[in-house]
Amino acid sequence: MKEIASIFKTFFAYLIRPQLYPELFRKIYKNIFQRQAAFKGKDNAEEWCRSLAISQDDAIKNVLNFKDYQSINSLYPEIMKQASETEKSCPIKMGGAGALDLIYYLNEYTSAKNSLETGVAYGWSSLAALLSLQKRNGTLYSSDMPYLAQNGDKYVGCVVAEHLRPNWKLFRFADKESLPKIFAEQNEFDFMHYDSDKSYNGRMWAYPILWEKLRKGGILMSDDVSDNAAFMDYCVKNNLKPHIVGFDDKYAAFVIK
Ligand SMILES: C[S@@+](CC[C@H](N)C(=O)[O-])C[C@H]1O[C@@H](n2cnc3c(N)ncnc32)[C@H](O)[C@@H]1O
Repeated sequence: MKEIASIFKTFFAYLIRPQLYPELFRKIYKNIFQRQAAFKGKDNAEEWCRSLAISQDDAIKNVLNFKDYQSINSLYPEIMKQASETEKSCPIKMGGAGALDLIYYLNEYTSAKNSLETGVAYGWSSLAALLSLQKRNGTLYSSDMPYLAQNGDKYVGCVVAEHLRPNWKLFRFADKESLPKIFAEQNEFDFMHYDSDKSYNGRMWAYPILWEKLRKGGILMSDDVSDNAAFMDYCVKNNLKPHIVGFDDKYAAFVIK
């Protein structure tokens, strides 16, 4: 009964937001015809990640070559403390933070001026990227849908500090609508972080589109790459050499173009 109420609540939340109608139709189609696709190849992907994984510390020190790096918590203690307090006081529950030091140092490594991310939630990954980008007066382009069931539109990105917001453009649509709008403003990126629709088909739609817009020497990162085989299949098919990073019992990955 509770589940049916939640489905109706989400459906109603879509109905009052016409900008999300295309995503509503895609969700209905997915739920009818592609229910199994989310976890396609999960066992193989987990095994693949396990066999290749290094730690976040190892990735930053030895792949990116920041041998004496400091975590963003020690570089920006006040901003990070304020962000934690904002998350604690947020009345709605959203997706948690990923490998924040890695995101910061991937932006540093690429000397990023233009970065793109899909999936914002509280805005932890946005905050990490912006702390680096602001040093070069760069821009972060983010795509995220409003939090529908909890009516939490205004809290998406809430942990991003006020002084970083001039360097941030948040597109509040599903990726399939956001990405063309972002590409109309900026055609080439130094760093991209995929952390939104984690289904097999969602990833397989996004990876080639993102890769095409990445400059040579730029970096594509993806979260939760062991959820299904999409990232593995994409890398194998295109002969890419990814770095897999074990973090919080999950795996993120990045590839240098
Ligand atoms: C795991 S959270 C992102 C966490 C964030 N990157 C971080 O590390 O702090 C995933 C987000 O993706 C968004 N999302 C899911 N499907 C999406 C889609 N098709 N288009 C845009 N955003 C989507 C959700 O609304 C959610 O905020």
